[in-house]
Amino acid sequence: EKSGYDHYMLKEIHEQPASLNQTIHGRFDPTDESITLDDFEPGEFSDISRVEFVACGTSYHAALYGCHLLGQRGIPAYAHRAGEYASNPMPVDDETLVIGVTQSGETADTLESLRRLEDTPARTLALTNVIGSTAARETDDVLYIRAGPEIGVAATKTFSSQVTALALLSERLHRDITGEPSAHSSGLLQSLGALPEQIESILDSDPTAELTRKYQGMDAHFFIGRGIAHPVALEGALKFKEITYEHAEGFAAGQLKHGPLALVTPNTVVIAVFTGDHDEKTLNNVREVQARGASVIGIAPEDATEVAATVDDLIPIPSSTPELNGLLANVQLQLLSYHFANRLERSIDKPRNLAKSVTVE
Ligand code: M6R
Repeated sequence: EKSGYDHYMLKEIHEQPASLNQTIHGRFDPTDESITLDDFEPGEFSDISRVEFVACGTSYHAALYGCHLLGQRGIPAYAHRAGEYASNPMPVDDETLVIGVTQSGETADTLESLRRLEDTPARTLALTNVIGSTAARETDDVLYIRAGPEIGVAATKTFSSQVTALALLSERLHRDITGEPSAHSSGLLQSLGALPEQIESILDSDPTAELTRKYQGMDAHFFIGRGIAHPVALEGALKFKEITYEHAEGFAAGQLKHGPLALVTPNTVVIAVFTGDHDEKTLNNVREVQARGASVIGIAPEDATEVAATVDDLIPIPSSTPELNGLLANVQLQLLSYHFANRLERSIDKPRNLAKSVTVE
């Protein structure tokens, strides 16, 4: 049931404070900074030296986010698009952990990628929402994201839960491998506890509806970001094209000048994501597109004064750690896409040509 919301997507966006509480419930204690990931014993991952992700769509973006969380903890990590990996698997060894990120646990490309690892020494883990799903049954280990059922074809609350679970898993891997918490540990755990309330405050203010009027009828919508803001920008663009049917692309901010800048005109809107890391460089990219006549909507922590002074419109987020600001920015992007699609009267919960679970390769 939609519980009074016009669409499941909006309901699921609003469920995020509760679903994130479920994801983190009992899994860490901010006072002594312990992390208890279900029945994984401490030291369980001490032999792992490298993580490879296989995933599709939104789950691939969560995996890319996970690569940053692991990389910042000194753990090499790489995310593969499962549709490619299933045809071209990479060499693995007994120190490789391959994580299949899949909300449904039934995506054919992801399952096929994991199956390609069956006769290899790699350890496989499913990060999934669905208990007893094929991915959960076929992998060595499973970590549930506990987001609750998601009906809308557009993945929203499950992305937030995937990233949150990956943040805890990354910190846990660092501890198992090195024997001690990472430098990011206390900041991460304190901020994770505050996240549900911060999302609540975004949902209460929801400033994006207004912008849909100002920016309707543009030719193209480019989403840019650097570092953790890069997967967030890719996810923003995917959500936008999926439910509005308008042209949208996500780019690494620094990549614009290597080609896409040729597309920028005064009829382009650029949505730039800021997390508090690398903001200066992304602001240079913002100025580059403004010089070509494009308007820029910035999504940034509320204390980012230079961003506020530079962009044409600002969508603020409450300030967390740079690691988690990307999650908060993504909630604003979900709302932005939703309001655009709603204004265009699209079939938001069941976009044309798409299915919730893609069970063919
Ligand atoms: O169930 P999965 O997480 O494996 O699904 C992967 C993609 O098909 C999915 O995330 C898709 O991109 C969403 N519809 C995006 O909103």
